Amino acid sequence: MSMFEFLVGTFYLGAATLFVVGLHKMRAPSTARQGNLISAGGMAIAVLTTIVFALVDFGGNVIGWGALVFGAAVGASYGVIRARTVKMTAIPQLVSVFNAVGGGAAAAVAFADFVANLSRASLDLTVSIPIVLDVLIGSITFSGSLIAAGKLQGIISGKPLTFPGARVLNVIVALIAVGAGVLLLIMPPNLLILLVIMVASLVFGVLMVLPIGGADAPVIVSLLNAFTGLAVAMAGFAIDNQALIIAGALVGAAGTILTLQMAKAMNRSVGAIILGGFGTGDTATAGGAAAADLTNVRELTADDVAIQLAYAQHVIIAPGYGLAAAQAQHEVAELAKLLTDHGIDVKYAIHPVAGRMPGHMNVLLAEANVPYEQMLQLDEANAAFGNCDVALIVGANDVCNPDARKPGNAVSGMPILDVDHAKSVVVLKRSMRPGYAGITNPLFTDPKTGMFFADAKKGLADITTAVKEYVTA
Ligand code: TAP
Repeated sequence: MSMFEFLVGTFYLGAATLFVVGLHKMRAPSTARQGNLISAGGMAIAVLTTIVFALVDFGGNVIGWGALVFGAAVGASYGVIRARTVKMTAIPQLVSVFNAVGGGAAAAVAFADFVANLSRASLDLTVSIPIVLDVLIGSITFSGSLIAAGKLQGIISGKPLTFPGARVLNVIVALIAVGAGVLLLIMPPNLLILLVIMVASLVFGVLMVLPIGGADAPVIVSLLNAFTGLAVAMAGFAIDNQALIIAGALVGAAGTILTLQMAKAMNRSVGAIILGGFGTGDTATAGGAAAADLTNVRELTADDVAIQLAYAQHVIIAPGYGLAAAQAQHEVAELAKLLTDHGIDVKYAIHPVAGRMPGHMNVLLAEANVPYEQMLQLDEANAAFGNCDVALIVGANDVCNPDARKPGNAVSGMPILDVDHAKSVVVLKRSMRPGYAGITNPLFTDPKTGMFFADAKKGLADITTAVKEYVTA
């Protein structure tokens, strides 16, 4: 090993160490930002090392230099501009596009490595297995993630898209991809077989994601994120790059854990996701007619809500997507602080899939400097609702829909925040319109619930102004 190779290996190892340390710090909200910066530092080292390594390797190869500089410039500009301009509510789509390029890039790396080895009479299994797995998983991730992004963006219908025989076709396409993979392992290098694996995997990715709809979409994005990690790790084995192997393994493991946790939070089985019979509960959408139905609804004003809050001892705030859409995190934090300063115990109930991305509510509330100890996870919150005087729901709907306890609807079986166990419930949203799953919510017509129809930002500011009248009077 030359001194140069030794240095490259050492830098990659340093980068991988920073990934592990960064990920470790992301376990707790208080150190998560630091963890993010440390991991980003690791990634910067890995990218710079790769660029220097490639430039030295290319020597006088102008095409290689050009491709490297052009690719880095286009990728970095797109990444920086999109990440800086993306709306909070569009982050799941962006994550999905990043998954697509991650998986696609990993597959392209394996493809290029295979083409470079085409002239050999046979490939060692230690080389061919990672190549086959990388092309297979990377291609599924690429096409599946693009379809998922299209669904989340509304370019492709969010409803489950399926047709007679779809499952059989899924199985046939999967068998073609796997069968061609096995063939490639036992035959001399053959580009046509690799292309068959790639095309079948791309088609499988599309067929896997099309039948998924509505409230189940985030799980598939997380699953595809795990796939991206696996594909990247395989690319690392294919081109013998330790940083890729470690980073890919970390993403694969983290993505898998997140997928399992989300599937549990939404009561969906991951096996059903892969088989493609996923998310069909979304077809049971209702809501259109019920959207304007105000029968049995008890309407409240900001003043009514303020009285309830000012005279409560225990208040739990359940935030949802509407809080994010209205960017009302600072207003909710201000109201909570006012109540806390007045001696009222205030907590936040965080549902794992509230909002539109994993950790959405934690990120928003952390931005507004809400103390971490005030944030209760699902189980803790559900244990506390029985002793809660007022449950204040801000822009949440599906995550507190009691119909989840009944079979036969889009949220059936999804663990929910038991807000209806509180002594009194206040829901702040703009109308009776349904949430993401598209179904009505009987909580809104429950006799113990009062509805305050307003935009979350303005409504919270109005409640805060009204509470001040009572707590300073
Ligand atoms: P939703 O069920 O989507 O309900 C959000 C509610 O917020 C809507 O009913 C809407 O009612 C209200 N709203 C919208 N804009 C508002 C504003 N400016 N001010 C006040 N209210 C506003 O949200 P949720 O309870 O957080 O549940 C999340 C859903 O999204 C689940 O079904 C989940 O499976 C799905 N999902 C989650 C994720 C992740 S990972 N978190 C990703 C994708 C999908 P009005 O229009 O009447 O105001």
